[in-house]
Amino acid sequence: MADKPLRSRAWFDNPDNPDMTALYLERYLNYGLTRGELQSNKPIIGIAQTGSDLAPCNRHHLVLAERVRDGIRAAGGIPMEFPVHPIQETGKRPTAGLDRNLAYLSLVESLYGYPIDGVVLTIGCDKTTPACLMAAATVDMPAIALSVGPMLNGWHEGKRTGSGTIIWKARQMLAAGEIDYDGFLELVASSAPSVGYCNTMGTATTMNSLTEALGMSLPGSAAIPAPYRERAQVAFETGLRIVDMVREDLKPSDILTRDAFLNAIVVNSAIGGSTNAPIHLTALARHVGVDLPLGDWETHGLHVPLLVNLQPAGEYLGEDYFHAGGVPAVLAELIGQNLIHTDALTVTGRTLGENCAGKTSILPDVIRPFGDPVKTEGGFKIFTGNLFNSAIMKLSVISPEFRNRYLSNPDDPNAFEGEAVVFDGPEDYHHRIDDPALGITETSLLFMRGAGPIGYPGAAEVVNMRPPAYLIKQGVHALACIGDGRQSGTSGSASILNASPEAAAGGALALLRTGDRVRIDLNTGRADVLIPDEELAERRAALEAGGGYAYPPHQTPWQEIQRGMVSQLETGAVLEPAVKYRRIIDRFGPP
Ligand code: FES
Ligand code: MG
Repeated sequence: MADKPLRSRAWFDNPDNPDMTALYLERYLNYGLTRGELQSNKPIIGIAQTGSDLAPCNRHHLVLAERVRDGIRAAGGIPMEFPVHPIQETGKRPTAGLDRNLAYLSLVESLYGYPIDGVVLTIGCDKTTPACLMAAATVDMPAIALSVGPMLNGWHEGKRTGSGTIIWKARQMLAAGEIDYDGFLELVASSAPSVGYCNTMGTATTMNSLTEALGMSLPGSAAIPAPYRERAQVAFETGLRIVDMVREDLKPSDILTRDAFLNAIVVNSAIGGSTNAPIHLTALARHVGVDLPLGDWETHGLHVPLLVNLQPAGEYLGEDYFHAGGVPAVLAELIGQNLIHTDALTVTGRTLGENCAGKTSILPDVIRPFGDPVKTEGGFKIFTGNLFNSAIMKLSVISPEFRNRYLSNPDDPNAFEGEAVVFDGPEDYHHRIDDPALGITETSLLFMRGAGPIGYPGAAEVVNMRPPAYLIKQGVHALACIGDGRQSGTSGSASILNASPEAAAGGALALLRTGDRVRIDLNTGRADVLIPDEELAERRAALEAGGGYAYPPHQTPWQEIQRGMVSQLETGAVLEPAVKYRRIIDRFGPP
């Protein structure tokens, strides 16, 4: 036992304050717990439950929690399961992004305000992972994450169909008249054959893999498919381990160091991780107090090759990733190149290097050797210019066809110019994209604005816009897309996204007009509208005189509250006033 007394003693066994002890204790006895248990100095372990009928990606945690409880009991702890505000990526309107910070806030209150000594974070669907990790970081109590795991591989007519990724393809087939409404729905549904989260390298697989790379979950646990026996077994082991973590007082701040974040950036490139990862890791770093400027993603991540051959960038899906060895196999390849800080501490109490000793890729076509990657540069390029302060792009998803169309000038092979076509939010785009009057050509640049954390509350995943149907029929499958919103991690689109500041926060994207010429330079990372500064200043004065960039009114109280205090995507889209609260477990006591 550590010397530090368990914080739950303050509730359940405090002879200096019998009145409050009795009050706290009696209600937790009412479902059958005994005084013997609650006063026996056993750690009380919260199970932060993110699964529910509303959150199907994480719903299997309702089953796995039984094995977590078994593990906690076997190690001498007492489990107490409680709900986390649901976040379902595909089901929540207007965006799931709106709810990450709400779940964060409510989990901070649950962990801080109740008799909990350590917590198992049940992670999975995109925003559930950062929400849970951010809360554990703010509170800084012993915490371990348990992924729910991806779905089994989807199949349709003998081919793997991946979550999300199949939708982008099916939309094009529907727009081109190759399938009808029923065929469309059937094709998309084939990608979801079991419990679990998206089986592609979308934001969920990305964030669950990065959680393991950060050291916050058990080695090898991220990639186990949800229905596999190993998933329930690692749930048991996670329950076992958290009890010892409480005894060792091993906290998120011990694990989430700058080295751990740099490891995660390198792993993100090697797995072909989602463009949402920088937003969530920035948020987590800010809540734990680690300096992680956006430029770190290019400095440490851009030149790391893509090793994991999963859709959307590659061919395979979640089950293949697991059978190939998962995150430890990826780490082993990177460790072999000295790209990983191997002495970073993990939830096991051992280092990342120790956890990965002897690991290797078992299926070298799924997790490639470093010398034979899927793509040579798996990371993100950071852009700046006169339209925004920062935005990111995954260079590796630029297709040869896209390159031929936009980057065909032999004197300037890494830059292109084109006419902007500007949309204000996803509804505007959906109404107008197929309107021939817009004059969209195969070298147009599609702009999406009004889609950032304030403009479309939470920031919509809408920057990857499909071309008009008439261009798709001519074989043009992707246009250059730029915007202040996000993009689904399941999309392989070559977009410049997460532009900050957004139009709704005074960003210069608000000044852009359809027909303006824009120049993009992939080498220098510049994105500029080719009009003089004086004209931009005139446009700004006119916009401000008219009340600024207009965005839809608040629909719920939380939309208004969050819009008033959320940061931009480049700084993690966090609740700015929350950042100063660090290690609040130390503040415990009377208010
Ligand atoms: Fe939940 Fe993809 S929608 S993980
Ligand atoms: Mg998503």
